[in-house]
Amino acid sequence: MESLQGKTVLITGASAGIGESCAIAFAKERAKLILVARRKNKVDELARKLSDKFNIDVHTSLLDVRDRAQVKNVVANLPSEFTEVDILINNAGLARGVETVAEGNYDNWDEMIDTNIKGMLNVTRAILPGMIERNRGHIIYLGSTAGHMAYTGAGVYCATKFSVRAISDTIRIEVVGTGVKVTSVDPGAVETDFSKVRFFGDEEKAAKVYQGFTPLTAEDVAESIIFCATRPKHANINELIITSTSQANSLVIHRE
Ligand SMILES: NC(=O)c1ccc[n+]([C@@H]2O[C@H](COP(=O)([O-])OP(=O)(O)OC[C@H]3O[C@@H](n4cnc5c(N)ncnc54)[C@H](OP(=O)(O)O)[C@@H]3O)[C@@H](O)[C@H]2O)c1
Repeated sequence: MESLQGKTVLITGASAGIGESCAIAFAKERAKLILVARRKNKVDELARKLSDKFNIDVHTSLLDVRDRAQVKNVVANLPSEFTEVDILINNAGLARGVETVAEGNYDNWDEMIDTNIKGMLNVTRAILPGMIERNRGHIIYLGSTAGHMAYTGAGVYCATKFSVRAISDTIRIEVVGTGVKVTSVDPGAVETDFSKVRFFGDEEKAAKVYQGFTPLTAEDVAESIIFCATRPKHANINELIITSTSQANSLVIHRE
């Protein structure tokens, strides 16, 4: 098992859910953290807590991954002790709405494609060249079981997560021989703010998604990510699919 102590870890979407749990999990391993999200106040508060509790260095930035110029600027202006990113957790993402494609909402399509595909690419493009130059580094993408199987009302969300898989598979081929690792961690249903965001704040609809079974927690996913990040230098987890024991795939969930 590789130690994460002192490693520089950049986490996008660190203000909530899986990103926040990853920040806590990497802090426990004494990594150096770069936490970014649009809600800067949330990452600042988390940074304060983690640096106090674990005595680690944490840098924060406001970052909308859709804003290519901002991504370039944030990466170009990292403080000197944070410039060599060892691990990138490309996590920021969302689903919006459950319309069929025939009744699709154009704004929702744009937001998902701009965040989940183009946003992840923007951050990758800013960080990957440095990793290739240093012959080390690890990019961990948050894919989804939605990237393995389509389901109704999620055509564009599934398309974005199929894309994440295509992009991570491609990069793994492109960097082979450099020492850079690429992993896609693909969870099933995880109880976070994800469904609240998908239903535009409707808590009742969001709660129904997780009714009658025990979904994954953000901590479960963070633990899997730590596993991927701590394999020995010669071993890479290409893809890790994790679901609740009650979930077989995107379509089959056993509810009591
Ligand atoms: N929950 C699930 O069931 C599930 C299952 C499979 C995969 N995933 C994937 O896991 C990832 C994290 O989701 P989650 O469940 O943790 O949801 P969440 O609790 O809603 O957190 C999403 C995070 O993404 C950030 N984000 C959204 N748009 C952003 C943007 N344009 N720029 C920067 N940050 C942005 C949010 O921060 P700000 O709003 O502060 O920017 C927030 O920190 C996503 O990629 C999601 O697709 C989730």
